[in-house]
Amino acid sequence: MPTSILRIDASSRSCGSFSRDIGDVVERSLLAKHPGADITRRDLAQQQIEHIRNETIIGYYTPGEAMTDELKAVTLTSDEIIAEAKSADILLITTPMYNFSIPSALKAWIDQLVRIGRTFDYDGHSFTGLLPGKQAYVVIAYGAGGYSDDGPLAGADFAKPYLSFLLGFLGIQDVTFVPVEATTADPATVACEVEKARQNVRSSLDAG
Ligand SMILES: Cc1cc2nc3c(=O)[nH]c(=O)nc-3n(C[C@H](O)[C@H](O)[C@H](O)COP(=O)(O)O)c2cc1C
Repeated sequence: MPTSILRIDASSRSCGSFSRDIGDVVERSLLAKHPGADITRRDLAQQQIEHIRNETIIGYYTPGEAMTDELKAVTLTSDEIIAEAKSADILLITTPMYNFSIPSALKAWIDQLVRIGRTFDYDGHSFTGLLPGKQAYVVIAYGAGGYSDDGPLAGADFAKPYLSFLLGFLGIQDVTFVPVEATTADPATVACEVEKARQNVRSSLDAG
């Protein structure tokens, strides 16, 4: 079976997006490492994921045998998103930081993915992630610099810690983050930060 990659792009920008560009670098390295890999793509800017609503939540908590046609219809997007994630060996998520966290487009995808009995279980005491054995690569583009390496903005990064916890909660422990910082700085700084991110990809993917 060829390796299966699920790529999720969350930037609202289709052109000039640093997270998508560095995501392309990661994708090329993954394809070099796993020749013939299948890639499923979800572009959350092109195809917006609907927010969960009252009926979606009822559907999440309704046992399979009791699902009505209406509940099945309203949980179909969630079913598809979960099936894509389950069949992937590798997740590649690219996202900007928006307002110190992730874009709402990515959160809408997460709200359709994280579902009791499907992608996590809860026995009243502890949680079990139901997506074990997968790898994830997460590219995050930040407009400002200083989020990594205990920089002055490290405490304001609610994107990376959230995604790190969330993926671990689902059972995905093998997560590589590729930050690209200071994307709104002067051109020389931007070029330097982009090269740093590319180098980061080379050392974490091409070396292994
Ligand atoms: C709505 C919005 C909110 C943003 N919020 C932040 C922020 O909180 N911190 C930051 O460093 N940059 C912020 N930025 C800048 C983006 O993170 C930066 O432009 C990044 O490169 C966007 O990702 P992209 O290049 O993949 O589109 C924001 C940009 C937008 C459009």
